Amino acid sequence: MTIAFIGHGYVGLVTAAVFADLGNTVWVVGRTKEKIDKLKKGIAPFYEPGLEELVKRNVDAGRLIFTLDFADAVEPSEIVFICVGTPPKTNGEADLTSVFDATEKIGKSLVGYKVIATKSTVPPGTNKKVTDILNRHKPEGTSFAIASVPEFLREGTAIDDTLHPDRVIIGTTSTRAQALLLELHTSISGEKVLCNPETAELIKYASNSMLSTKISFANAIALIAEKVGADVEKVLEGVGLDHRIGRSFMYPGVGYGGSCFPKDVKALIAIASEHNYDFALLKAVDSVNTYMMRHFVDKISKHFKGNCKGKTIAVLGLAFKPNTDDMREAPSIEIIKGLLAKGASVISYDPVAMENAKLLLPGTVKYAKNAYDAAHGADAAVVVTEWNEFRQLDLVRLAREMKGRVIFDGRNIYEPVSVKNLGFMYYGVGRM
Ligand SMILES: NC(=O)c1ccc[n+]([C@@H]2O[C@H](COP(=O)([O-])OP(=O)(O)OC[C@H]3O[C@@H](n4cnc5c(N)ncnc54)[C@H](O)[C@@H]3O)[C@@H](O)[C@H]2O)c1
Repeated sequence: MTIAFIGHGYVGLVTAAVFADLGNTVWVVGRTKEKIDKLKKGIAPFYEPGLEELVKRNVDAGRLIFTLDFADAVEPSEIVFICVGTPPKTNGEADLTSVFDATEKIGKSLVGYKVIATKSTVPPGTNKKVTDILNRHKPEGTSFAIASVPEFLREGTAIDDTLHPDRVIIGTTSTRAQALLLELHTSISGEKVLCNPETAELIKYASNSMLSTKISFANAIALIAEKVGADVEKVLEGVGLDHRIGRSFMYPGVGYGGSCFPKDVKALIAIASEHNYDFALLKAVDSVNTYMMRHFVDKISKHFKGNCKGKTIAVLGLAFKPNTDDMREAPSIEIIKGLLAKGASVISYDPVAMENAKLLLPGTVKYAKNAYDAAHGADAAVVVTEWNEFRQLDLVRLAREMKGRVIFDGRNIYEPVSVKNLGFMYYGVGRM
């Protein structure tokens, strides 16, 4: 099949490269000449394990083609996927400017019959607005069907997630579009859920909100565990053994971040409110999440008797999660700003996200070349992102580098007893 992707971010580029690798001819439309020129050489604009090899292989094979021109991509394609960003507005609603802009340009480039499928996360009902825009701009004699095919890939494991998703949601009322989308997804494992576009659009928000709810629930239990002297990891193990509940995604920590959970939770609250429903449950999920970052900073500050002046804190991990350089809404940003506000100096290290972090963090933050370098002379080490390389740190060496002997483990990656046996004071989340 020949297909097109508008946008080459985490969703657009990964999905395009995977479908090209499955033998399709795939066009990708971008906006920036510099990025498109690099992509043509197989250089990705962000870090995702395995992606550059995949892009290069398919560019070399002539199956993955990058362009700045919508007409180049739309004309030969049977399906056009919209994969542009839908960032939050200040009131929490999804900003659909890029979706509508891309839709207008697709409309003007329509030739014959096309399926226009939205992969971006958009509020229920957006498909109707997309339809209106396409109708306003399409040349006479052309036709289209719209679909909502939301994306569920996770940064860090995006290629495998695209090939082996738990499910593929195909939301369309057109049997022709449904058949084409099913054909395209033949080699993709995972249950196919067929529904209307509104259902597909809501499935995406409901999924991300449920995952965020699990995290905030685990965090709320962690807060109680700290008060009553329980170990949250054991509590959640005990709870999760009930097969109706399970243990997956019950991760206590410093809170969720990234480009999806915070914005999608806020967007679903806004969608509910627009329809006169006060989604108090999700408001609480959001506020527990914000509180966890503040609570972590307070824990560190309390250890230093409320005065972090003159203290150097080594922050290990900046990306919102491991295996990505994505810093969007990363908890590290709030935590570092909080530490600086309490008078601490911060030296940080992340395996891949430091360049992106420099654009978002205050200029006073220093950067180290590895975790030991960051810990050199530090009064405390703080784990914010659970990169594997931090799990396997040589803590004896870390202790030798540090001035103080205290670890704040914001992701519960260490065993408290073994860390304490090395002479550290240990603070986890929901356990001592
Ligand atoms: N990142 C994820 O893990 C993930 C997972 C599932 C769904 N999503 C959703 O998918 C969508 C895209 O997310 P992302 O992380 O890939 O975003 P991103 O910011 O990484 O990429 C967005 C891309 O869209 C392009 N773009 C923006 N406006 C454009 C326009 N007017 N015309 C052409 N191109 C335009 C940008 O240049 C960029 O290439 C969002 O709605 C997001 O919520 C993201």
